[in-house]
Amino acid sequence: MTSNLENQLLALRQEGETAIASADTLERLEELRVNYLGKKGQLGALLRSMGQMSAEERPKIGAIANTVKEAIQNSLDQQRTALESAQIQVQLEAETIDVTMPGIYRPQGRIHPLNGIIDQTLDIFVGMGYTVAQGSEMETDYYNFEALNTPPDHPARDMQDTFYLPDGNLLRTHTSSVQIRYMEKEEPPIRVVAPGRVYRRDDVDATHSAVFHQIELLAIDEGLTFTDLKGTVKIFLQSIFGDLPIRFRASYFPFTEPSAEVDLQWKGRWLEVMGCGMVDPNVLKSVGYDPEVYSGFAAGFGVERFAMVLHQIDDIRRLYNSDLRFLQQF
Ligand code: DAH
Repeated sequence: MTSNLENQLLALRQEGETAIASADTLERLEELRVNYLGKKGQLGALLRSMGQMSAEERPKIGAIANTVKEAIQNSLDQQRTALESAQIQVQLEAETIDVTMPGIYRPQGRIHPLNGIIDQTLDIFVGMGYTVAQGSEMETDYYNFEALNTPPDHPARDMQDTFYLPDGNLLRTHTSSVQIRYMEKEEPPIRVVAPGRVYRRDDVDATHSAVFHQIELLAIDEGLTFTDLKGTVKIFLQSIFGDLPIRFRASYFPFTEPSAEVDLQWKGRWLEVMGCGMVDPNVLKSVGYDPEVYSGFAAGFGVERFAMVLHQIDDIRRLYNSDLRFLQQF
């Protein structure tokens, strides 16, 4: 009886240790633990039969049972440690960064030359305290022309023929419309710079496009004079083009009085680069400002012209073709 139970215990130990050593998951290990050492496990079942033993046999078998239990528990612990570290190893290997592996190639984007000029301009004017504003590309006749002192039969409209929509609205011919919208919303003092897309009914060629970009600036305050305009324009143009001679040439715009074109001496030639002037009192009146109290200046220029001069671009259409051979040069 005794030796029979003893043999069974030793056999259980052997079987248990073998099974545990070959358990390949933690789940399987837990199953084995329950199977051998659990409340309803095999060791427990064997010990329950100790009840029929004599008092002298019992301690001996009890001692053997304890070593079997310890041995199985040891095997369980050992295997658990082994499985856990193997799991960590697998995880470490999976997460290793292979520094020799080639990366994923993402072609680098570039700033479009037009956006480059716009960004540069806005930076310069924001640096001088200006706010950036935008208006809509579809405008009413009022904001594009009339409020800018250009009534329906005004000859200045001839140069700014545009696309008229069936509802009577039009595609704005210049960003000057933003002046009016901004002044209607805000009160002086005003310093605003407005970039945007504009439209003209122009035949497309190397220097003309029916859709192009302008940047407008406007300053309204008490006591602004032509010297403020000159100083501002000079600082701006020299920041963009470098320290080159500029000149103001008398000109005409309906919305400014006096008006001027600004020329830049570029590679030995005078080049017209922007229009400007003191805001006409009629424009101030159209937004309810008192021209006896406030004065101001405005200027506007074409972004394409700046880009073409600065980057020596020979045809305006290159700016719109999305040809990478062209765009990658910037
Ligand atoms: N709006 C004019 C144009 O498109 C450019 C311009 C000239 C804007 C004089 C101004 C200005 O603000 O004062 O030709």
